[in-house]
Amino acid sequence: MNTILEVNDLCKTYIINKRQNNVLRNVNFSISKGEMVAVMGPSGSGKSTLLYTVSGMDKMTSGSVKFCGSDLADMNENQLAKMRLDDMGFIFQQMYMMKNLSIIDNIILPAVKSDKKKSSRKNIMKRGRDLMHRLGISDIAENDINEVSGGQLQRACICRSMINSPDMIFADEPTGALNRNSSDEVMDELNKLNNDGTTIMLVTHDAKVAAKCTRVLYIVDGNIRGEYNINKEHSLHERERSLNNWLLEMGW
Ligand SMILES: Nc1ncnc2c1ncn2[C@@H]1O[C@H](COP(=O)(O)OP(=O)(O)OP(=O)(O)O)[C@@H](O)[C@H]1O
Ligand SMILES: [Mg+2]
Repeated sequence: MNTILEVNDLCKTYIINKRQNNVLRNVNFSISKGEMVAVMGPSGSGKSTLLYTVSGMDKMTSGSVKFCGSDLADMNENQLAKMRLDDMGFIFQQMYMMKNLSIIDNIILPAVKSDKKKSSRKNIMKRGRDLMHRLGISDIAENDINEVSGGQLQRACICRSMINSPDMIFADEPTGALNRNSSDEVMDELNKLNNDGTTIMLVTHDAKVAAKCTRVLYIVDGNIRGEYNINKEHSLHERERSLNNWLLEMGW
């Protein structure tokens, strides 16, 4: 399998009131194309910071991050923005969407802004509607964002993250604001995208969510303390049980 994301000795330090906070300390890992990797760890351990730093949303302090072979340190702001728009998709716990746009217009916005495929608005709209159909939310296309449920809105966010056919999706607690039912639905959709070849890195506090991934990285104090390969052969129940045992060993 080829590597899509390669992270070497990544450090991130925030300085607030002259006090240094070393949030990421020499983080090393790589992700192969087609993987679905969960990042777990205590609150404040640096999971979100890791996600934002490796996806070029936030600047690293030192170390190196390569995405599809390109070193992020060699890219200027414009190149980073283009990479995020064209080649990456993002899903967040707080489902940031534009209040003055309908759901479908929110979904297609990244495609309208991108010149990756240079499609007509009609084709972009068709792609947006196809994605909505696939995620079972066709009927809310014209709704305002406050006229849909949390689970529907998160599925709309997945459509938006997919609109430019990204190589990789980064998700920060995508199910964090959802009840168990909606969370399962959202994970089913992410699993389908992953089965179709999209690489996914997601932060979660939920072992049930992590058990549906292929690998788990456990981070404590800005350092990867351990990693766990999920055995796809096992039933979901068994995967959850063995992951929970491992998390207990890690001090979860
Ligand atoms: N923009 C920022 N400026 C300064 N410090 C920050 C910033 N973002 C995060 N931090 C600090 O970095 C540390 C790690 O935060 P981060 O949000 O990455 O943790 P997390 O593991 O995602 O936690 P949670 O599970 O609660 O979301 C915390 O000490 C936090 O206060
Ligand atoms: Mg976080």
